[in-house]
Amino acid sequence: MAIRLGDEAPDFTAETTEGTINFHEWLGDSWGVLFSHPRDFTPVCTTELGYVAGIKDEFDKRGVKVIGLSVDPLGSHEEWSRDIEETQGNKVNFPMIADPDKKVADLYDMIHPNANDTQTVRSVFVVGPEKKVKLTLTYPASTGRNFNELLRVIDSLQLTATHKVATPANWEQGNDVIIGAAVSDEEAKELFPNGWDAQKPYLRVVPQPGR
Ligand code: BEZ
Repeated sequence: MAIRLGDEAPDFTAETTEGTINFHEWLGDSWGVLFSHPRDFTPVCTTELGYVAGIKDEFDKRGVKVIGLSVDPLGSHEEWSRDIEETQGNKVNFPMIADPDKKVADLYDMIHPNANDTQTVRSVFVVGPEKKVKLTLTYPASTGRNFNELLRVIDSLQLTATHKVATPANWEQGNDVIIGAAVSDEEAKELFPNGWDAQKPYLRVVPQPGR
């Protein structure tokens, strides 16, 4: 069944390149990113894993654990990791789930049979510390994902989880934000005592809180 925003992220136990992992236990109180790859030893996947390994400290800074998946077995992941390090210059520094029986891929609806009935699409699930799904992305096999965009969305998710604001189009850290629609002007006066720019009654712009 499709996984929707706000659903609990399905739990599973799986073999990974860093040993057997129970997903919820492994996440602990952290945020998480679970992302799938169609196959080992494929070019776009190779660049994606190498890139994510290179920006792992950016996920760490945000308290986000990263875990990859492909339907190939563990030995294949280990052999492929050597190619990734050789060609991308970064050693894979997060666990990769080996899912040859497609248990996790099916649980997360990562196989879209009308696209390909044996390989996963490029799925991304961002999971919050309470294990709820905060973001889903689905890319085709032929298009590598933009992991800087993923970091940007995580910044927005983490900001909006702790402040009653929303982030506008193309928002990045430090840019102005929008007071949440459910916040009355009375409440907004308490939350934003320095006021706001009311471009419309429903479009109230304030500096990013907490900076
Ligand atoms: C790739 O990673 O390059 C790839 C994988 C499956 C289908 C197409 C491309």
